[in-house]
Amino acid sequence: MITLQNITLTFPDGEHRITAVNNVTIHGENGTVTGITGPSGSGKSSILAVAATLIRPDAGGILIGNGTDTIDAAQLSKKDATALRRERIGIVFQQSNLIPALTAREQLQIMGRLGGGTGRTKRAKIDARVNELLDAVGLSAHANKRPHQLSGGQRQRVSIARALIHEPEVLLVDEPTSALDQESGAEVMGLIARLTRERNTATLLVTHDLVHRNVFDDVITIVDGRVSEPAAV
Ligand SMILES: Nc1ncnc2c1ncn2[C@@H]1O[C@H](COP(=O)(O)OP(=O)(O)O)[C@@H](O)[C@H]1O
Ligand SMILES: [Mg+2]
Repeated sequence: MITLQNITLTFPDGEHRITAVNNVTIHGENGTVTGITGPSGSGKSSILAVAATLIRPDAGGILIGNGTDTIDAAQLSKKDATALRRERIGIVFQQSNLIPALTAREQLQIMGRLGGGTGRTKRAKIDARVNELLDAVGLSAHANKRPHQLSGGQRQRVSIARALIHEPEVLLVDEPTSALDQESGAEVMGLIARLTRERNTATLLVTHDLVHRNVFDDVITIVDGRVSEPAAV
């Protein structure tokens, strides 16, 4: 699970500071998708960047794990945060951020080898996992294609599979459908929901598009950096 506890984040803004995230608490259970929604500029991506340990908050905790195994990622050194991000957090951004020269399979292999050994057994293990994940996202037949040979939806599938390569407990997804048409958007959302249950990840998913709210187990609405009352349906 992941709990963002009373997170506040400010950015410098001329002589003052702008409060992008204002005392936000969000709880994500394993095997569930928690939607984070709200208008543009309300602080959604900032919240996700804090959860990903990419930006350190001014205040608040980022509790990751279960029971006595729980750590506060906000307290980690840069080095420990990097290791945590690699091993326990999967991240999917708006743009799929794939490396143009690499095939779908290679994008996953490279990520899989990060931080691990390069021995033969290790490699075989990673390759088996790569194949299993490509299959799980329905891309086995496209494993040898490079990003420009894939559709937007397929590229997002590669980046979802890549985010899962280290079997993370936490999956963070920012506007995964914003570059997709309605149909591939719905497929990508459905895929994230299914993988969240199958792999028991605590998934936080940012979207401004409530068309996809059916995949959420819970929805948090952010307005002006704060958690707001649920929108009337
Ligand atoms: N790196 C940054 N430096 C300064 N201000 C930022 C930075 N990132 C975001 N902001 C500001 O923080 C607020 C929230 O932005 P963001 O989290 O990107 O919102 P959302 O994802 O909901 O559109 C905005 O006012 C934005 O301009
Ligand atoms: Mg954003």
